[in-house]
Amino acid sequence: MAFITKAVAMARLFSLQAVAENACPRVDYDRAAATYAAHAQLLAQAGEEFLDQIPIKSGDRVVDAPAGPGTHTARLAKLVGNGGSVIGIDISQGMIAEACCKCSSLANVQLQCGELTAALRQQRSQSMDGILCSFGLVYLNHRSFLHETCRVLRSGGWLAVIENTKDTLADVNAVFLETVMDMPFAVAKRVSLHMPGSSGHLASQMARYSFKIVAAYDGQFELPCCDGNALMEYLTKAGVAAGYLDALAPAYRDQFLSRFVAKWDAVEARPVRHKYCAAIGIKQAKCQPFARLRRLLHGLGGIKP
Ligand SMILES: C[S@@+](CC[C@H](N)C(=O)[O-])C[C@H]1O[C@@H](n2cnc3c(N)ncnc32)[C@H](O)[C@@H]1O
Repeated sequence: MAFITKAVAMARLFSLQAVAENACPRVDYDRAAATYAAHAQLLAQAGEEFLDQIPIKSGDRVVDAPAGPGTHTARLAKLVGNGGSVIGIDISQGMIAEACCKCSSLANVQLQCGELTAALRQQRSQSMDGILCSFGLVYLNHRSFLHETCRVLRSGGWLAVIENTKDTLADVNAVFLETVMDMPFAVAKRVSLHMPGSSGHLASQMARYSFKIVAAYDGQFELPCCDGNALMEYLTKAGVAAGYLDALAPAYRDQFLSRFVAKWDAVEARPVRHKYCAAIGIKQAKCQPFARLRRLLHGLGGIKP
């Protein structure tokens, strides 16, 4: 019987992969925008430590992509000073509204609501000194993003990326999947996230687009053990479940989330472990062999976005 239930669930998930539309993280981030900064403090701390390593200079023209509620945007603006500038881009109107409040006194910040890669396409070639991508790569097509960053940065400019790795939140994902197996009918959309496997994987992707890697590392942090309700509050208010919540059919969402909480509480309390990777690359003046060809093919549509 359990075998049949599992087979039905798997069939449903495969059919979703084939025909369903992608869930939209923007919807979930709009909902989490007002609570994100207060609840995602450990994520922000990992980002802050990463920022300390970026070769940013006073006077730099920088993109914060995505800006989220503007925490790093404000810090970048102070680091580049009045002679520099920061463009913060985010797809969520709610996040941009938060970032506007956070950066209201900073004259060198410009905030834009829009899709990241599309917004980068609007920037002139070689017009920027640095691009920070803090916990946003997962929502992007890596090739298109790297192609655009490489075009927009001047030679010697820096690209700094920090992102959750595929094995992040393993316990949470396992319970989510178990819940999906129980209630496959509750999933209405496809979850489409693109996490790098490790800092080595991220660095080699960047190197293919003419970036010389100057730092790369893997890291992790733990949220203390918490019960199912506290975990659910974290996942929703810190935007950690963005893209997963929108994948659930509204009619079954509450039932699904209650079952998830019950399943989490049914086993021994354990910490919630985030795993992430980071890499910093400097755009080289001379293209790597094949990088020029790759960029040309990309421009011609030969490499699929
Ligand atoms: C985890 S938050 C990171 C925010 C901030 N960079 C930080 O480190 O706190 C991810 C952000 O990416 C934004 N986002 C997701 N997909 C995007 C896209 N395609 N274009 C622009 N922003 C996007 C979300 O709205 C959200 O604000």
